Amino acid sequence: MNTESNWAESAWQKVIHKLERTSKSIGASFPNGSANGRYERSSPHDWVSGFWPGLLWLAYQETKNDRFKLLAVECERQISHTLWEFEHLHHDVGFMFGLSSINQYKLMQDEEAKRHALMAASLLAGRFNAAGKFIRAWPNWGGEDHSGWAIIDCLMNLPLLYWASKEIDDPRYRHIASLHADTVLREFLLADGSVHHIVSFDPETGERVGARAGQGYAADSAWARGAAWALYGFTLCYFYTGQASYMEAAKRVADYFLHHLPEDQVPYWDFKLPEFGTQVPRDSSAAAIAASGLLELAALLPVEEGAEYQRHAAAMLRSLYENYGAWDDEEEEGLLLHATGYFAQDIHVDAPLIYGDYYFVEALLKLKNTP
Ligand code: GLY
Repeated sequence: MNTESNWAESAWQKVIHKLERTSKSIGASFPNGSANGRYERSSPHDWVSGFWPGLLWLAYQETKNDRFKLLAVECERQISHTLWEFEHLHHDVGFMFGLSSINQYKLMQDEEAKRHALMAASLLAGRFNAAGKFIRAWPNWGGEDHSGWAIIDCLMNLPLLYWASKEIDDPRYRHIASLHADTVLREFLLADGSVHHIVSFDPETGERVGARAGQGYAADSAWARGAAWALYGFTLCYFYTGQASYMEAAKRVADYFLHHLPEDQVPYWDFKLPEFGTQVPRDSSAAAIAASGLLELAALLPVEEGAEYQRHAAAMLRSLYENYGAWDDEEEEGLLLHATGYFAQDIHVDAPLIYGDYYFVEALLKLKNTP
């Protein structure tokens, strides 16, 4: 039994108690960010749609409560229909189908769900721009030309491609994933270990045009959740390929992230703001994502080096549990308070976010179940 077991076990009891209640109100819908205690619901094609079924599958694996499974299966049915909504889809099919279809395939041996994930991998591979060696993030939402835009979050969608290559024993998807990851290493990662959110390229020639602020404060600032996606994403690229440069990048981003945390281990929404103070919102979702990535990273490193990252992850999770949880608040559907969705557009600022909840629970179970 590890030394974290006492508080982690109490945290898990709080989580499952709350999920038993919120699964009744949320049902098989697609929560996004919470406002006034209720999660706003999204469409099945929204980038967040996999997180609720992902959370239900985590709860099902621990409890074997069939209600969690049945709700997740209904979510998968709705998500699978989006495969025919081509113009609504985007690179985040990795989050969507990875958490919904691949879990359903693995846990229920559901061949149809496996087929959904393989089709999603083919759509993701189809977003690859061979001139610039990047995966295009989005359609031209809002009339803006996004044909040359790649974003840091996409590292977390690459596991869908690595998984598909393994599943059908064909390297094509893996090659695309690694070409994109190499572009991110070269064009997004800065010497200090921070990362850009968006880098745009000329879609015809592939030449770099420049960095953009995206959800960060500025093009050359350091959006905290972007750093968390990079830390976890590079770690997963290393897991699938064994390529040392991905591990080095994951450690560089992790060290930057950890060195810029305030005392309670939960970052402000951007690490390079002109001013910090009590009024600046935190992003608890960035802490949850980073903690889960750090636990993955720790498991891939030699024991002593890994133990240091594990210690940091545990400290972040404990602070989230003790200082950021809405455990006993019957009026709130979210688990973790004080996340920041999109500060500049005032979307879900200082609110629970479903992906913060998902990664908190994912990380907590990794920590709790470590022998
Ligand atoms: N764009 C995905 C996120 O908010 O992290």
